[in-house]
Amino acid sequence: MSRPDLGFIHRFVPPSATRKEVKDKRQIITLLLLHGTGGNEDDMIPLGQALAPTSATAILSPRGKVLENGVAPRFFKRLEEGVFDMQDLKFRTHELADFVEAASKAYGFDLKHIVAVGYSNGANIATSIMLLRPKTLSAAILFRPMVPLVPDMTPDLSDVNVFISAGLHDRIVARKETEQLVNLLSKAGAKVVLHWHEGGHELGREEIVAAKDWLATNITPQ
Ligand code: MLT
Repeated sequence: MSRPDLGFIHRFVPPSATRKEVKDKRQIITLLLLHGTGGNEDDMIPLGQALAPTSATAILSPRGKVLENGVAPRFFKRLEEGVFDMQDLKFRTHELADFVEAASKAYGFDLKHIVAVGYSNGANIATSIMLLRPKTLSAAILFRPMVPLVPDMTPDLSDVNVFISAGLHDRIVARKETEQLVNLLSKAGAKVVLHWHEGGHELGREEIVAAKDWLATNITPQ
């Protein structure tokens, strides 16, 4: 199911649970899937379905609006690998947060139960949303995130749970940068779990299982 009128090409997959099973929309967890560079709204759907903690899980999956070299969708512009266009990053962060809010009204899910699941560039925009629009997400699973920006004012993330999965042999994200991100989010009050995966920038099966366990344990709908 998708509606083209919310500003982003996207897919929305409603919960598989029936209306009878989901008595209250506060039971629904919505996973906001954010793909990496060159991905699209379809790529992460199997990952979202693998992570879904209950049958009352919905999926919202937008496609990044920036086209790198005219071909590779991203969520914001970069000047080179790991060097971001800050003005565009801030603009795109608010644009995506506005889309999530509009989608919550259009599809009727509760903003208090939205969990971002981002990979690489998608993890970076998810982090930027937490830092610049702290009320938008209640939790995030970040695979291979960087520090996208350091905000002028530290946001209050004391109600936010974050699972970070970093690659021990990642040639794009240095170990030090992962640690800086953990410090930044922890300083803002977020409850951060850092998972080290024995691998590089590519996603591995083991860390998906770890993220699923973390989600099932830490994010419980009302
Ligand atoms: C980014 O540009 O967000 C990071 O370099 C990750 C990537 O997309 O390669």
